[in-house]
Amino acid sequence: MSICLQVVPSEAQKAIVFLKENGLFDGNLKPAHAAGAVFFPLARRPSQAQAKKLKSLAPSAKTVQWKLERLHVRPRSLEEALERKLSPAERKALIGSFDTVGSLAVIEVPDALKKKAGLIGRALLEVNAALESVYQIASAHKGKFRVQKISWLAGKKQKRAHYKEAGCEFVVDLDKVFFSPRLSGERLRIAQLIQPGEVVGAFFAGVGPFPILFARHSPMAKAYAVELNPTAVKNLKENIRLNHVEDRVEPILGDVNKVVPKRLRGLCDRVVMPLPHGGEDFLEAAFLALKPAGGFIHFYQFTDKQNPLAEPLRRVEAVARKFGRSVEVRAWRVVRSFSPVKVQVVLDVEVRAKPNNLGKNK
Ligand SMILES: C[S@@+](CC[C@H](N)C(=O)[O-])C[C@H]1O[C@@H](n2cnc3c(N)ncnc32)[C@H](O)[C@@H]1O
Repeated sequence: MSICLQVVPSEAQKAIVFLKENGLFDGNLKPAHAAGAVFFPLARRPSQAQAKKLKSLAPSAKTVQWKLERLHVRPRSLEEALERKLSPAERKALIGSFDTVGSLAVIEVPDALKKKAGLIGRALLEVNAALESVYQIASAHKGKFRVQKISWLAGKKQKRAHYKEAGCEFVVDLDKVFFSPRLSGERLRIAQLIQPGEVVGAFFAGVGPFPILFARHSPMAKAYAVELNPTAVKNLKENIRLNHVEDRVEPILGDVNKVVPKRLRGLCDRVVMPLPHGGEDFLEAAFLALKPAGGFIHFYQFTDKQNPLAEPLRRVEAVARKFGRSVEVRAWRVVRSFSPVKVQVVLDVEVRAKPNNLGKNK
């Protein structure tokens, strides 16, 4: 039984407005119609003054006990959903951040909470109505393909995500390819820098978020999307079709260091290098891919939080010297924090024309 305000139906509207305005209505319970009356759940008994005012608005009003149904109220956060299921220390240990890729969530569960992982997964489904599946991170991004192992926690068992970003659609086989929604801002930022007619080398293309966003949001002529992981290239080809950019994004399966000398030498106005872990080994390929008239390289690196620019800049300048090209960092920024001591940065590097090419058109 719950404490309720009982009124005749003709006075229900005035009564509910008063209850809500005065914080007396209990939103966790469902009002009932029965025995020719309406029963509103009360958060507490009205004060004498409130009862008097209520009587003047709805003369039939009286407080009674009545059985009401509890409404399912969706928790507002993972912490709130787990309030009664985890101890305060366990809740503190929970890393609140998770990535969502379409209707899949991927969450990091700390070791101390591994036994509660299923419960955490179900809580996440409860918090977010758009989610259908929750997976936990089972390994760091590893190997050449930078793939992360994930294991099922709750909801539908499906590792293929359907993801939307900036009006583009992607299928992503999350357990077989690298994908992160965290660089979405970067993709649009670079799309806005691209000039009409540019040819772009989209190195380390993955399932295609960089080149496909460029095709939809920039005036580029064409992007060559180079990727080593055959499953990522399968997803990439499907995504190119899904977004109708077949004429402007060309997928190439292979190693950047082998593909560029054979197919992309001197073809590009701009090269994008989203391989922050080890991308330095491909800087020579980036310089080789640029047109003799010069262009831009967007170089991503994990680097020292205290002095983020020094090491990536040293690497770019060393390769520029080798190629006899002068470079200028036109912009750089910290893209995201990676660990307590490391950040991910991007350098927008302008590579000037080859000395013997000055004055010539592209
Ligand atoms: C950090 S992921 C970035 C993927 C994608 N650009 C994105 O933002 O989702 C790096 C990608 O580079 C690919 N890769 C690694 N080494 C490569 C190489 N030598 N040549 C071409 N692709 C490579 C990996 O398979 C992976 O898909």
